Amino acid sequence: MPTTNNKVEFLVKPGGCLSGRIRVPGDKSISHRSVMLGSLAEGITEVSGFLEGEDNLATLDAFRQMGVHIEGPEKGRLRIEGVGLHGLKPPGKPLYLGNSGTSMRLLTGLLAGQSFDVEMGGDVSLSKRPMRRVTDPLKTMGAQLETAPGGTPPIRIRGGAALKAIHYDLPVASAQVKSCLLLAGLYADGRTCITEPAPTRDHTERMLAGFGYPVGRTGSTVCVEGGGHLTASSIEVPADISSATFFMVGAAIAEGSDVLLEHVGINPTRIGVINILRLMGAELELGNEREVGGEPVADIRVRGSRLKGICIPEEQVPLAIDEFPALFVAAACAEGETRLTGARELRVKESDRIQVMADGLNILGIDACPTEDGMVIQGGTLGGGMVESHGDHRIAMAFAMAALRANDNIRILDCANVNTSFPGFVGLAAEAGLSVTEG
Ligand code: S3P
Repeated sequence: MPTTNNKVEFLVKPGGCLSGRIRVPGDKSISHRSVMLGSLAEGITEVSGFLEGEDNLATLDAFRQMGVHIEGPEKGRLRIEGVGLHGLKPPGKPLYLGNSGTSMRLLTGLLAGQSFDVEMGGDVSLSKRPMRRVTDPLKTMGAQLETAPGGTPPIRIRGGAALKAIHYDLPVASAQVKSCLLLAGLYADGRTCITEPAPTRDHTERMLAGFGYPVGRTGSTVCVEGGGHLTASSIEVPADISSATFFMVGAAIAEGSDVLLEHVGINPTRIGVINILRLMGAELELGNEREVGGEPVADIRVRGSRLKGICIPEEQVPLAIDEFPALFVAAACAEGETRLTGARELRVKESDRIQVMADGLNILGIDACPTEDGMVIQGGTLGGGMVESHGDHRIAMAFAMAALRANDNIRILDCANVNTSFPGFVGLAAEAGLSVTEG
C-alpha cells in the first residue's frame, strides 16, 4: 500500500498579488468519469486534458487491474481500449483508491453489477468517510456488499448479484451517490431513477449521453434503463473550476491582481463559486464562452476588489461544495460578516472542512465560529502562523492564498495531498505571483 508523505509543508510569504494567464489542470470529476465510461465502452476512447492527479491515477490503476488496456497519461492524453459493460476482469488484489472518495463511491455502484468479487480500500482519510450512503441504496437494488462496522471502507462486493432497478430519493444532495446509482443502473433490470433534493454536478449524465447511452431527465429526477451499451467517444476535459477557485479567490482578495483563467469548465452545476464571489462584490468576467465535448467552458478574468460579507444562499451550497475552504478565506478578507448555513456535508469531506478551516482562521487571528452546518466569519486582518491542513488538499491551497492578505508568513502543514487534485500547484501559484515554497 502506498505511503503518504505528511512532511510536505508550504511556506508562504505575505502580500503580493496575482497576475497573468493561467491554465489550471483538468477537471477531477470529469477525468474520473472519462476512465470509467471509456473502460466500459465498446471501442477506443481518446481523452485529452486528463488530470494526472493521484485521485484520478487511482481510478486509472483500478481499471488497469481489471484488465483494461490504457495508454498514458502522456501530457494529459489517454487512449482507453474499452472492454464493454461486461468485459472487466477480476483484479488480482484489493483495489487501493488512496484519498479518493469519488473513485470509491462511483466504483461501488459500477462493481456491484459485475460477476466477480472485489474489495476496495483507501488511505486514513478515505477510511473514515461514510459509505452507507451508497451501500444502503445498492443493497435495496440487490447488491451484495459490506463495509467495516462503522459504514466506512474497506468495501467488499460479492459478484454475481442480479440487480433490480429502484427509484431512490437522495437524502443528501450528492453527485457521488447519484452517479454510483446511475452506474449500478446500467446493470440493473428495469429503469433506475434518482431524485435529487437540489441540483448536483451532472457530469455522469452528460458523459453517458456522450457515449450514446440514453439518460432521461424530468425535473429533479434522472433515469437510466439497464441493458444498453456505451459507444467509445473522444473527451476533452476542461480545466477544473474547483482548482481555478484558488486563483479566483487569490485574485479577488489581493489588490492589484488581474488574472485570466483559461478554458475553465462552467457547467451550471459547478458555478456556485462564481455566483457567491459576485454576491460578495468580486470583479469577475466570463469571456469566450463555448461548448467542448458536451461541457460549457469559458475564460474567467478576475481582478482584485473589495469584498463584502454576505449570507450565502443555501441553494448555492451544492453548486460550490468543494469551494468553501477558499470561500472562507474570501470571507475572512471581506468587510463585515459572512454566514454559511446548510453545508453539513463539509464535515465529511477529505477532512472536517468546517472545523479545520475555523481552527486555521482562528490561528491567523480571524473570528471564525463553526456551527453544526456552516460557519460565521467576521472579516478582519489576517496575521501569520502555522496551520494544519489535516492532509486535505483544498485546505492547504486555501490557506496558501490567504497569505496574499496576511501580514506575516503562513506555514501550512501536511500538504502532500495537494497532488491528489492539483499537481504543480506551487509552481503555477508562484508564477502567478504568490511567494510560496514547498519543503
Ligand atoms: C464529486 C462530487 C462531490 C465533490 C467531490 C467530487 C463527484 O461530492 O465534493 O469532490 O465527482 O461526483 P458529493 O457528491 O458527495 O457532494
